[in-house]
Amino acid sequence: MQGFVQMIVSQFATHEKATETFKTGKGRPWSDQPQCLFCGTDRFFRPGYQANLVDNWIPALAGVEAKLKAGAKVADIGCGHGSSTVLMAQAYPNSTIHGIDLHAPSIEEAKSKAAAAGVTNVEFQVAKAQDFEGRGYDFACMFDALHDMGDPVGAARHIRETLAPGGTFMLVEPMAGDSMAENMHPLGQIFYAASCTICTPNSLSQDVGRGLGAQAGEKQLAQVCREAGFTQIRRAAETPTNMVLEVTV
Ligand SMILES: C[S@@+](CC[C@H](N)C(=O)[O-])C[C@H]1O[C@@H](n2cnc3c(N)ncnc32)[C@H](O)[C@@H]1O
Repeated sequence: MQGFVQMIVSQFATHEKATETFKTGKGRPWSDQPQCLFCGTDRFFRPGYQANLVDNWIPALAGVEAKLKAGAKVADIGCGHGSSTVLMAQAYPNSTIHGIDLHAPSIEEAKSKAAAAGVTNVEFQVAKAQDFEGRGYDFACMFDALHDMGDPVGAARHIRETLAPGGTFMLVEPMAGDSMAENMHPLGQIFYAASCTICTPNSLSQDVGRGLGAQAGEKQLAQVCREAGFTQIRRAAETPTNMVLEVTV
């Protein structure tokens, strides 16, 4: 929760900008947010990834854990400070994990974290989800980032095109029901608040500007994946804060 408090501080410190952004609806890129938000986001989500990613989420996907143990090419798109990238690199030393994010300072931080953790099976790119480099990824994953993107369909389509035959896309998104009424509980309200000042403005600042927001819900997320050419979407796991979708062609 300390990371969450940092996120609040980041929004309070720049509330005038947030108000102006809300009124104009013009969007506000991630890079325009205070540094405190990037650290807070990493700190808020990381414990959930530490507790679940390797022990619960990856084993819940068909055939993925065995591939990662044997040695696979993995893309972690929208990796931010790279906590998920480093966790997978540590757990699957035979695999190479590519951390990808368009925010260059976050990629610098991710590189430092990987170096501090002593992992060498990582590579990083500053790139958009819609056109990052590389082909033949056995496994692609995205943690709490698709709803922030202006063109989530373009991102998911590019992921599909870069997957190796039989590859899997694991989409981790904030837990949400499909209607606003279902999300009117304390956690949903917190996510809506963050979505109004952070996620939705970031999406609106990018091409297309679909503005999914942090409470998109499974129905809309599945629709995005289908528009991108995926056909199989299954909720493979969930926690009180996240849903994990297994997405395949
Ligand atoms: C809420 S943060 C999540 C970061 C990290 N995955 C985590 O869970 O801590 C969303 C991330 O998506 C990245 N992002 C947003 N739009 C993007 C795009 N179009 N292409 C690549 N990365 C993007 C941001 O720079 C940010 O690092």
